[in-house]
Amino acid sequence: ERGGYPHFMLKEIHEQPKAIRDTLLGRVSPDLSRVTLSELKWPEGFVKEIDRIHIVACGTAWHAGLVGKAVIEQLSGIPVEVDIASEYRYRDPIQTPNTLVIVISQSGETADTLAALREAKRRGRRVLAITNVVGSSAAREADDVLVTWAGPEIAVASTKAYTTQLVALYLLALYFAQERGRVSQDELHAILKGIDGLPQVAEQVLDTAPQIERFAKDWAHASDTFFIGRGLDFSVALEGALKLKEISYIHAEAYAAGELKHGTLALITDGVPVIALAMQDALYEKTVSNIKEVTARGAFVLGMTWVGDEELQKSVDQVIYVPHTLPLLAPIAAVIPLQLLAYYAAVARGNDVDKPRNLAKSVTVE
Ligand code: F6R
Repeated sequence: ERGGYPHFMLKEIHEQPKAIRDTLLGRVSPDLSRVTLSELKWPEGFVKEIDRIHIVACGTAWHAGLVGKAVIEQLSGIPVEVDIASEYRYRDPIQTPNTLVIVISQSGETADTLAALREAKRRGRRVLAITNVVGSSAAREADDVLVTWAGPEIAVASTKAYTTQLVALYLLALYFAQERGRVSQDELHAILKGIDGLPQVAEQVLDTAPQIERFAKDWAHASDTFFIGRGLDFSVALEGALKLKEISYIHAEAYAAGELKHGTLALITDGVPVIALAMQDALYEKTVSNIKEVTARGAFVLGMTWVGDEELQKSVDQVIYVPHTLPLLAPIAAVIPLQLLAYYAAVARGNDVDKPRNLAKSVTVE
């Protein structure tokens, strides 16, 4: 049942190219000129009237939501807020009649996310659920559903659900942009071409697994680690840190790279491992100067950048190179090595990878 893999988590990490491909199937025109989300039964004109979006989720799905916010705002111009479900449901959020609420949940059964969904519906909002389980409560109770076709996710640590949630959010952002006339045909085509290439990018990133396994042996001894990045890289850093904590039990903190000097640098001492993501071309120089801030204090830095970058290796101790895609799509490529790092560190520490302590796959209590 584990298909020859020692753990479900490793199997699911390796299933990501297929999961991404399946989530794209039938949603992009063969000539890569349009997004078609025929499952959305929105009333005539609704897409043009949406004036804000609230994304609500927990854990890894919330991290996907952070990427979703950036991408939807950039492509469609619609203002987006992202909330942790257990916060949103108690905070009396400001909604307009044309606020679209999007809940993201792999299982579709997370108690706080469902409560937020129900509260939004009670207030008369239209709710879209992005979920991996077709018959789940979220799928049944939402007005509209975008299914992520990741297939069953058994390991407690979420991997392929996250990458397919990102795919669903990219498609949705492009759909908004297309329907609201916010994107030129050329730009739409360029991004869809990038999205169409993601399964192959994911496959190539998986080829780094033996290298990551070697790196992870060093990381397995760490007690405190930091993940830094800017922009979308920061959202991925949050997810990478969560994965590491969740299954290896190594303390990890994700920081927006520019925020380190506002206190956190005090914790960067000799030998502290730092993972630095430098995938956002427009922010590259700024990130490199933040890397220099930590190396100056003795940090041991594992950097991540695109294949072909000759610069980063000069500022860090180790580098992971991932195949090129658009910076907008970098989270899909960048998260995979971080999933693998967490996995191999957990294995090296002898942990029960698929069933980490104190965690349940589906959190149906508040
Ligand atoms: C982390 C993880 C959790 C879930 C969270 C939400 O690896 O699995 O953080 O992402 O409990 O679960 P769903 O998406 O089922 O609502």
